Amino acid sequence: MSDLPIVNIGICGLGTVGQGVWKHITRSKPKLESRLGARLVLKRASVRNLAKKRGVRVGPSRLTTDPMAVATDPGIQIVCELIGGTTLAKEITLAALRLGKTVVSANKALVCDHGPEIFAAAREHGGHYFFEASVAGGIPIIKALREGLVANRFGRIYGILNGTCNYILTRMERESLSYPVILKEAKALGYAEADEALDVEGWDTAHKASIITYLAHGTWVPTKAMGVAGITQIAQADIQFAREHNLAIKLLAVIERDLKTDELAVSVAPTLLSRETALANVNDVYNGVSVSGDVVGETVYIGRGAGQDATASAVISDIVDAIALLLRGNAALPEPVDHDCPRRLPERSVSRYYLRLDVKDEPGVLSKISAATARFKVSIASVQQTASSRKGTATLMLTTHLTNEKAILSAVTQLRRLAGVLGAPLLMRIAAFEDA
Ligand code: NDP
Ligand code: HSE
Repeated sequence: MSDLPIVNIGICGLGTVGQGVWKHITRSKPKLESRLGARLVLKRASVRNLAKKRGVRVGPSRLTTDPMAVATDPGIQIVCELIGGTTLAKEITLAALRLGKTVVSANKALVCDHGPEIFAAAREHGGHYFFEASVAGGIPIIKALREGLVANRFGRIYGILNGTCNYILTRMERESLSYPVILKEAKALGYAEADEALDVEGWDTAHKASIITYLAHGTWVPTKAMGVAGITQIAQADIQFAREHNLAIKLLAVIERDLKTDELAVSVAPTLLSRETALANVNDVYNGVSVSGDVVGETVYIGRGAGQDATASAVISDIVDAIALLLRGNAALPEPVDHDCPRRLPERSVSRYYLRLDVKDEPGVLSKISAATARFKVSIASVQQTASSRKGTATLMLTTHLTNEKAILSAVTQLRRLAGVLGAPLLMRIAAFEDA
């Protein structure tokens, strides 16, 4: 054993994920070492606050408050960036890569915002950048897209990519609680981002959708070029409606490419899904991703999308890949080929929709609403009214026949302006992926 090559690992950030990585590498060291034929040494770790109590024991001589010192330590070959954010994380990532080191990360915001620059630095200096944990937690979706499904072109990929939102929606469904109450629990469980708005407003899902889009199609779609909506507007009335119609509400990323015209559409929004689909039954912190390839057909991946252990599982898988490459002389990995897909126009995106409106409970409101939707040729399929908790108001839940995205968005803008409509309507796509 003592003759084995030694690989030194540095961990920048010993929070939820960093501690998981430390704990599980320590626990499964003998197995990993015999599998790899190398000795793994957790050489140093950095934190912000040395006095904070941690769930893992790290000797004081191995702890520092300077992540850059870990990233640039000449003895460390693999640097794990588990700090989060896009400023300090970017600096330490680039510093390590410029020294030819390999960086392993769980940071989807960083990959999404600076992927090309980071990948170029890794290529130029002979290191690697691994980021399996950045999308769908413990599910090896990046490996699946990059390696297992390499023979395919992808017509549709859709998924539940945020554990916090799925946990909140599941609990709202089961316990009739409001989302702010459950969000506190998701934070305590280590699922939520330091800035939880990234989760509940859909941006974390959008970061992950951008990464998947790049891996599947070779095109970077920035989050500002996607329609992004989160779950903050979802109320018990919507959950009740979904239950009555055998539907589930899921925050979905949908990435669709027309394989004939190449047109690409990427969106993130709460969506009504038939209970008959696999993803409608993916609950709690679990994520689910459906990937349809032209060779393989549909494949579905389900697993824990957030939390210490699931994320550590993905980070450790990257560390093992990184070590295997190091031991084999650091060969290059196959990368997606850059390809510029045109964006699909909103008038070419067709779906049925659900609309919830709070309205004044007075004569003529319904006819004004149907006139507003008719103006954009949006045809209403059903209307349901429930009493509202506010006196003199009612809640209307409409569904439409098939319509296009441009028309429904224009209709919603018009509805917001109507005197009888109170506040912003909630719009959700009613997905029919199972019919495709
Ligand atoms: P935490 O907030 O739990 O941990 C962050 C760590 O970085 C802490 O140890 C913190 O130190 C340290 N840190 C933060 N800011 C600084 C700073 N300015 N200088 C030095 N150290 C700093 O985050 P998570 O572990 O939850 O997330 C880490 C990354 O993993 C993020 O990119 C996140 O998006 C991603 N991720 C998280 C998942 C999860 O389930 N939590 C799942 C998948 C990805 P201290 O402990 O002293 O405060
Ligand atoms: N906050 C993220 C989530 C962590 O809830 O999915 C995993 O990326």
